[in-house]
Amino acid sequence: MTHRFPPGFLWGSATAAYQVEGAAREGGRTPSIWDTFARTPGKVLGGDTGDTAVDHFHRSTQDVALMAELGLDAYRFSVSWPRVQPTGRGPAVQRGLDFYQRLVDDLLARGITPMLTLYHWDLPQELEDTGGWPQRETAYRFAEYARIVGEALGDRVELWTTLNEPWCSAFLGYGSGVHAPGRTDPVASLRAAHHLNLAHGLAADALREVLPARARLMISLNPAVVRARSDAPADLDARRQIDALATRIFTGPLLHGAYPDDLLADTAPLTDWAFVQDGDLAIAHHPLDALGINYYTPSLVSGGTDNAPPRHDGHGAGTRSPWSGAEHIAFHQPPGERTEMGWSIDPSGLYDLLLRFHHEVPDLPLYITENGAAFDDEPDASGAVHDPARIAYLHGHLAAAHRALADGVDLRGYFLWSLMDNFEWSYGYSKRFGAVHIDYPTQTRTPKSSAHWYAGVARANELPDA
Ligand code: FCB
Repeated sequence: MTHRFPPGFLWGSATAAYQVEGAAREGGRTPSIWDTFARTPGKVLGGDTGDTAVDHFHRSTQDVALMAELGLDAYRFSVSWPRVQPTGRGPAVQRGLDFYQRLVDDLLARGITPMLTLYHWDLPQELEDTGGWPQRETAYRFAEYARIVGEALGDRVELWTTLNEPWCSAFLGYGSGVHAPGRTDPVASLRAAHHLNLAHGLAADALREVLPARARLMISLNPAVVRARSDAPADLDARRQIDALATRIFTGPLLHGAYPDDLLADTAPLTDWAFVQDGDLAIAHHPLDALGINYYTPSLVSGGTDNAPPRHDGHGAGTRSPWSGAEHIAFHQPPGERTEMGWSIDPSGLYDLLLRFHHEVPDLPLYITENGAAFDDEPDASGAVHDPARIAYLHGHLAAAHRALADGVDLRGYFLWSLMDNFEWSYGYSKRFGAVHIDYPTQTRTPKSSAHWYAGVARANELPDA
């Protein structure tokens, strides 16, 4: 069976500002919550920070040239809010916008489609100091920032994403505290989730006002693939609860204009949700042009009394569960092989997700805006980096994506996480997700064998046999 992809299918790679840019103190940029968090002892492995990262801020032209050599069609990057609007208020700093204008111009000059994400977790610290995402005002700040970026780049960027994985912002940032700003307050995490939904809608409204009609608006979610350990009612109910807190807390308002009743009931002991004001849900329910899906691994849960310590917050084990109101649910290691993150490898989860949204919102085009794996990749004696495990991971997931296409899913593109090794949040530089290897002391870029393999897939628009 051949695995041909539809004409025009976008083959891309993804990064995020704090993970790659560095230049943390240049051009008027002020600290984001990740600068503060990373500088707090004990929060990030090895005390690593994004101060230098992979120096993408100074090397973006070279990095774009590398993408072009690899024949990639698209690049998903994020804009650093504190670089373009330091402190999160007031006018834009032109030097910050210049960087993104140059980056986009370089991409377009090489025929690479930019996909711009407005928020990949780097809230200006000053906005956290005035309450952060649990505070309603932050949503209005975000819409103002969105307008600034829309006005600056709307003439040359067509694919716009408001938020990346708001689940992580809300529940890892304010619930388990393994991400910036490191708060551990379950009610704050639910408030944050709502204000992120509101922020998305307000930003989408602002962008529609300033962007040309051809612009396409979306959001990138990390919907969970939750499996129950057995068919016992308690396990099935655990699956339902985690699905509500992981996925439907966002897709409810964004795709259907309402929070799910079961979510409201499950969390009633924590909050009455009075922070949801009249009109908020209509704003959050702004019509989208596409949905971005990030997928890495499934979760396996049970609802009995054999509680395991919370795990699978995805990005480091905190002292508190990120599952606000569902802390009693046990997470288990799914069977099978794992990546260096400990995440089990299961391409069928990607297929299941694509089919789920195909059925839930049949007319909404989908993009896989992140998928990939961390492995311990090091150069051999000749300097080459061979990463057959990543090739196998990508092959499996692209075959799953192809199967979904064959079953009628309107999937428009795939963005490999990540273009290059980078700052992996609370794991610092210890986890390598890149198709391109980074030697951090010298910042040398070496495409791994997976980069060449992926380039071949992109060029042929076809997946070779395994
Ligand atoms: C996702 C994040 C991305 C990266 C990958 C491994 O949740 O969006 O920045 O950390 O996981």
